[in-house]
Amino acid sequence: MKDLRGLILSGGKGTRLRPITHTSAKQLVPVANKPVLFYGIEAMAAAGIREIGIIIAPETGEEIREVAGDGSQFGVEITYILQDEPLGLAHAVLTAEPFLGDAPFVMYLGDNLLQGGMLDLVDAFRSNEPDALILLTPVDDPENYGVAELNGDGSVTRLVEKPKEPATDLALVGVYMFTPGIHDAARAIRPSRRGELEITDAIQHLVDSGRRVEPHVVRGWWKDTGRLDDMLEANRLILDAIEPHIEGELIDSTVDGRVIVEAGATLIRATVRGPAVIGAGTRLTDCYVGPYTAIDAGCEVQNAEVEHSILLAGSSVRNLDGRMESSLLGRNVKIHRDARQPRAHRFMVGDNSEIGIP
Ligand code: G1P
Repeated sequence: MKDLRGLILSGGKGTRLRPITHTSAKQLVPVANKPVLFYGIEAMAAAGIREIGIIIAPETGEEIREVAGDGSQFGVEITYILQDEPLGLAHAVLTAEPFLGDAPFVMYLGDNLLQGGMLDLVDAFRSNEPDALILLTPVDDPENYGVAELNGDGSVTRLVEKPKEPATDLALVGVYMFTPGIHDAARAIRPSRRGELEITDAIQHLVDSGRRVEPHVVRGWWKDTGRLDDMLEANRLILDAIEPHIEGELIDSTVDGRVIVEAGATLIRATVRGPAVIGAGTRLTDCYVGPYTAIDAGCEVQNAEVEHSILLAGSSVRNLDGRMESSLLGRNVKIHRDARQPRAHRFMVGDNSEIGIP
């Protein structure tokens, strides 16, 4: 088989993660202080893929380009490919055709996280040489995904995109491996009800034309980080596996369990109970940071309790009465008690924000 190329889809509007995605691409929201997108790039690099095309959208492409760069930080070469309109995953493949040429390739949805990487799967693809290899996993809400039906012998019979009445609970995971035949399949299909060229339909076209589509049920966990709850869960899963290390400064502070304190962070009379990660230059004073919290660089938590949350860079939480939990704060968000009279809640909050007060 020729060398595999990589294709990462990093367009899309991220509507389910608003307001965070009003100002930033969903693929750049950090999980355990690292942009979701980086996990995909690193998994490809670890599987020996050197040339990666990243599909970008006009709105967020520049930001993605700035953060991921030319790929040298990952030991790969990145080519950016602009998809003018979000017309579907199969449309993205066609947009990338000049980059992909006749190379076999791995396609990875940039907001997906797959535990354990893809080395085994890439090996299976290389040695079995099917026309396509798809990953499946049982989910509780198959109606929100592409759903697969298999034969008794384990071969794929039918793939349906977001069926109202799913025939199985086997969802298509957002990591696919294709030979160049997928381009003709993508050209042969029509847009779906949501007006998109669905990759699910293109793979069904391969099945219908007698091509070999090999399904693999993934053993580890997989997350599509499109919503807040998924984001928090992905954060939990990644934090559960971090290697603890402390580079910042601890003054009269306690750190228990799996905790990373990055260089330049300062903890003063703070208690951090892992798994948690405290970003570079962040300051924790007289506070408690509980399990499953990722605090990015340059944040401040003072006289407050924070647990099971993600704080993006530059945010601060100060002088809270109760504990803050299950929260996602964007960049430079400030949450604090305000002593001014009259005593009242005062907000300045962007579109589509959500605030819960006990
Ligand atoms: C896309 C695919 C779907 C797949 C899912 C995985 O859905 O169309 O088949 O199961 O990714 O995350 P979308 O994110 O476009 O709703």
